[in-house]
Amino acid sequence: MDGKKFMDRIVIYGGKKLKGTIRISGAKNALLPIMTASLLTREKVVLNNVPYYKDIESMSLVLKTIGAEVEFRDKQIIIDASNFNNPEAPYELVRKMRASIYVLGPMIARLGQAQVSLPGGCAIGPRPVDLHLKGLEALGATIRIEHGNIVAKAQGLRGNDFSLEGKNGSSVGATCNTLMAAVFAKGKTIIRGAAKEPEVVDLMDFLNKMGAKIEGAGTSTLTIEGIDSLKGITYDVIPDRIEAGTFMVATAITNGDVYLENCCLDHMTAVVEKLREAGVNIEEGNGKVHISCSATETLKPVSIRTLPYPGFPTDMQAQFMALMSIVEGESQITETIYPERFIHIGELLRMGADIQLNGSTAIVKGVKSLSGAPVMASDLRASAALILAGLVAKDLTEILRIYHLDRGYEKIEEKLAQLGAEILRVSPSWEKL
Ligand code: EPZ
Repeated sequence: MDGKKFMDRIVIYGGKKLKGTIRISGAKNALLPIMTASLLTREKVVLNNVPYYKDIESMSLVLKTIGAEVEFRDKQIIIDASNFNNPEAPYELVRKMRASIYVLGPMIARLGQAQVSLPGGCAIGPRPVDLHLKGLEALGATIRIEHGNIVAKAQGLRGNDFSLEGKNGSSVGATCNTLMAAVFAKGKTIIRGAAKEPEVVDLMDFLNKMGAKIEGAGTSTLTIEGIDSLKGITYDVIPDRIEAGTFMVATAITNGDVYLENCCLDHMTAVVEKLREAGVNIEEGNGKVHISCSATETLKPVSIRTLPYPGFPTDMQAQFMALMSIVEGESQITETIYPERFIHIGELLRMGADIQLNGSTAIVKGVKSLSGAPVMASDLRASAALILAGLVAKDLTEILRIYHLDRGYEKIEEKLAQLGAEILRVSPSWEKL
């Protein structure tokens, strides 16, 4: 049976310059831990600037399953965890979204126990959770792995001084999970080797506004003074720096002229520096960010190396590769966070790119043009890279398996169409007409 007939796909007729203004949505990777941190209070939490996409829906389902009430309004989520009482997050939920593991810290902190299915690997490579467990154990939880589940127990967490640094640097997820548990640990906790990503800082801002006592946000050493309870608040989530970066590349790759609203350049220094080095104009003024690029022929090849924040984000690697694939000359793209996050190369090759993989470094030789082809998305950011390639490719590109895209971009095809791209989502129901 031809599976493609039963899934949405995106078709793009490349070659249109993007022009106009769009608004960047709230950050997925800030919202997911903030939604689970809302489990730490018995009072209502209202989150603003909330985009609607699959991962947010999946996280809502996780929260509802464990006893919280979650209500969606326009760009808003209201979470009431006064009845949060179920310490189990089963495989059916966790396998759909790895970030479900963010319930672990709050479960241990509020319920004193947790049984959360171990997330497996995924298309971007193995993704262990040893550092999450290390952090929670350092606070006094006892943890064992049983039948594919993380089973944790804690009779009162206690502050401690420990490092969460892993072999690939700091961990966003382990820092968030440990922080959420440490808020209620007795005494002082010092987390060294902590992640500095803006999304982790946003979680700390959120927790501090609820009454937590966390210092050191944005540095690698966090100090947390344990408290007994948190209060409910209304909170605006930060803009999504990866969505903003994706639209910056979309503008550059089409020689476009685009304004981004709700875009925070302070969170994007490494991406902005690399795009400017390549010859893309990026200016800020009147509350908007203006991106323009006169001609792709004038762009220069630029090499990147992904690193934890403030380094170049792994979540922009595939999109940057799509851009470099049409910039004359050679660039090198090295992945240090997820050394196997390169499945998009095979699809870009189908569109005529010239890319060779040498270990964890892709050597990209810019070609004069890409040609549209049917391609397959393998993960969220790879999907975005294929869309970017499709925007500049000759003729028609058809992107299959876009459920990956739907996990973390809000209406990307509508936003691109608003900027003038010839792009359309084709749903199976249309094909029956
Ligand atoms: C977060 O994943 C993001 N996800 C990812 O975004 C992002 O790619 C990643 O951070 C890196 O920036 C969310 O925020 C929901 P990590 P996370 O723990 O927290 C190793 C996207 O496209 N590690 O910071 O899972 C790990 O293997 C997604 O939006 C351990 O060794 O990433 C990696 O090499 C994909 N042991 C490095 O640390 C652990 O216990 C950083 O991973 C945990 C991680």
